[in-house]
Amino acid sequence: MSNDLTATTKTPIVTRPNQIVTIERHILERQTAYPEARGDLTQLLYDIALTGKLIGREVNKAGLVDILGETGITNVQGERVQKLDDYANECFIKTFDHGGLLCVMASEEEDEAVPIPSRFECGDYVLLFDPLDGSSNIDANVSVGSIWSIYKRKTASGPGTIEDLLRQGSEQVAAGYIAYGSSTMMVYTTGTGVSGFTLDPSIGEFLLSHPDIQMPKQGSIYSLNEGYRNLLFDSTARFLDYLQEEDAETGRPYSGRYIGSMVADVHRTLLYGGIFMYPASKKAPGGKLRLMYEANPMGFIMEQAGGMASTGSERILDVQATELHQRVPLYMGSEETVKLAIEFETGVR
Ligand code: AHG
Ligand code: MN
Ligand code: MN
Repeated sequence: MSNDLTATTKTPIVTRPNQIVTIERHILERQTAYPEARGDLTQLLYDIALTGKLIGREVNKAGLVDILGETGITNVQGERVQKLDDYANECFIKTFDHGGLLCVMASEEEDEAVPIPSRFECGDYVLLFDPLDGSSNIDANVSVGSIWSIYKRKTASGPGTIEDLLRQGSEQVAAGYIAYGSSTMMVYTTGTGVSGFTLDPSIGEFLLSHPDIQMPKQGSIYSLNEGYRNLLFDSTARFLDYLQEEDAETGRPYSGRYIGSMVADVHRTLLYGGIFMYPASKKAPGGKLRLMYEANPMGFIMEQAGGMASTGSERILDVQATELHQRVPLYMGSEETVKLAIEFETGVR
């Protein structure tokens, strides 16, 4: 499934709103739109949902660690896993390393590419992920999440290589996130729109709660870390000043909202509109957020929901990756607001 606009994708079966639809059924319905599909991507998405349930269970217990003692989680080496980042990372790797669907993986928590162990078959897909995003907020009971991005492999066969991992975001075949907040939600796209599912923990099923999410074209919320205001480059500071000026006609001033977990800030932007940005600054000249497992998957979601995702001068999904953990400045959200940001960042305004 490609998000290449020239691809001959049929209109997916439109799920009726207010019906009880599990994520597995939703994924399968979309597979039927691709007669040539073998079900590998479907299985990958099922396993993403499983990983989200496993991580969500431990995240929701995180607050009890002090009361219950250590997390009680042990990894495959039998070591006590002290940090949820490590647990989430282990969950992804141990869920996906043996299914024969991937040829290579990459994780924010792993410096190098994660190979498929030689005892297992290699498959035709590539998975990159941020196993736990916003983890510095865990102790404050603030929403955190997992972000993931899937490509078809580029090399012909055998173990995947860095060539399979360093891609343009426009080649993604699926992407999304799981948000561990007041409820656990999974939001994903395979290039035919964005859908959101809320976990019913009593039955362990993600149920369709947000069919076909469309982002408002114009929003009234801006989101960035204003602690770095004095470190912003002039173009960005002027954009911020503009958003904060009174002007009833253009819906300003915008309200400021910043959670500090990308998944939570992006999820709010997706549903309410406005803009989430992590611009370049004197503190982070290349931006802070990572292209391959934060900016690209969220950029795919934003575009599929009718929004935009830019570096300030270039479409995020057009950036050709050169390093696995490279960072990019990012502005994503409602089309009109992101276009405004680009005008300021490129000197038009
Ligand atoms: P991670 O926890 O995966 O390292 O990501 C943290 C990121 C992202 O979640 C958030 O948008 C950003 O860090 C916040 O950075 P600041 O604390 O510099 O605002
Ligand atoms: Mn992150
Ligand atoms: Mn992370």
